[in-house]
Amino acid sequence: MRTVVDLTRCQGYAQCVFLAPEVFELHGEEGLLYATAVPDDQVERVRQAAAACPVQAILLGEE
Ligand code: F3S
Repeated sequence: MRTVVDLTRCQGYAQCVFLAPEVFELHGEEGLLYATAVPDDQVERVRQAAAACPVQAILLGEE
């Protein structure tokens, strides 16, 4: 599974970083995120993060 953060939506709420810190990371001056492959043991956490993002900026996809 892969996850991508839609940077046109992300407002830096950081729920994703709280719920899945091994996958999501705030970085840069604007506090934005980057996309990454999701290890199998992190899939459920990433799903929770996607559900928790207030602006639905986290997109999930199969590899
Ligand atoms: Fe951005 Fe949503 Fe995370 S707004 S910082 S992708 S919780």
